[in-house]
Amino acid sequence: MATMTQAPEAVLLRADNVRKYYTDPRVRRQALKAVDGVSFVIRRGETFGLVGESGCGKSTLSRLVLRLEEVSGGSISFEGKDLAALGRREMLSVRRQMQIVFQDPYDSINPRMTVRQVVTEPMAVHRFDKAGWRPLADKLLADVGLSKDLADRLPHQLSGGQRQRLCIARALALSPKLLVCDEAVSALDVSIQAQILNLMLDLKEEHGLTYLFISHNLSVVKYISDRIGVMYFGKLVEVAGKEELFANCLHPYTGALFSAIPTAHPDAHRERMILKGDVPNLYEPPMGCIFSDRCPFVRAKCRDVAPEMRSFGEGHEVACHFAGELDIPRGWEGAL
Ligand SMILES: Nc1ncnc2c1ncn2[C@@H]1O[C@H](COP(=O)(O)OP(=O)(O)OP(=O)(O)O)[C@@H](O)[C@H]1O
Ligand SMILES: [Mg+2]
Repeated sequence: MATMTQAPEAVLLRADNVRKYYTDPRVRRQALKAVDGVSFVIRRGETFGLVGESGCGKSTLSRLVLRLEEVSGGSISFEGKDLAALGRREMLSVRRQMQIVFQDPYDSINPRMTVRQVVTEPMAVHRFDKAGWRPLADKLLADVGLSKDLADRLPHQLSGGQRQRLCIARALALSPKLLVCDEAVSALDVSIQAQILNLMLDLKEEHGLTYLFISHNLSVVKYISDRIGVMYFGKLVEVAGKEELFANCLHPYTGALFSAIPTAHPDAHRERMILKGDVPNLYEPPMGCIFSDRCPFVRAKCRDVAPEMRSFGEGHEVACHFAGELDIPRGWEGAL
């Protein structure tokens, strides 16, 4: 009988109603709802950007995706396999295929290892044939633009940008399919940021990568992403293709984020949306919409009923009862 070769599934990662509640009985009895019912897919080969302000649950979500922590509810699947159902050995092989690059390389690099050792370490852990370590490390260092004479240096002898290149080289050592970047360029100055982002775009093609790219900085997310998810305190409030999101955002919180991007032209006029009020208490989030306490368009229904994600055209989803009916200020064209 002829065997059928199946095309790989288009969806690489699927998050379905994912929740993460933290309880610390020493502090209080209630749980902190860091991630509260988030669903999205990442397709093979795309860059999915996740944007939202500090504390909204981005890093928590990235740890759940890598199964560095267990979900409190819902599920995450990678290539169709539910991560929570995988045993230790299976998880180890899946983990090889998902790597992470953090904001601060100092936290994740052993300061006593040379640059080359940092890159070969994962090869040793995963028992690659030793003869191949050095040539592969040198190729990866070249791929990320680190010259050979840096290979014997210690991490503190590198610049911030070079150190982040090193972290990327190490993340690529196991030929991952998914690279999770959590604020990977946020600590770098703007010109180095641009270099690293361009490097990441090149590496994506060369190494056939898929990215989950997390940042609080909308300009950075805009530059690198194909699709963008906007997160507001534990919830995804809007997901759309990049062009669509920037041309036609429908959630008031996305509008507020956009209006906070600095403009390149000092005399550009635009309406700003200034948010009033405090960020929600994650121990006792509002009963209705998570954004209701700060939304300039809030109506009675928003305080009572939490909105579900609804579709507004291909790939554009919004969790707002009144999406499409609101006059969200535009005019962020020309924004950086
Ligand atoms: N291990 C933990 N125990 C208790 N609460 C936690 C834990 N980890 C995160 N939190 C809380 O969960 C919420 C989300 O945190 P998280 O680090 O995911 O936010 P973030 O969006 O990555 O923020 P930032 O942009 O500042 O990195 C915060 O209120 C945080 O205090
Ligand atoms: Mg974070």
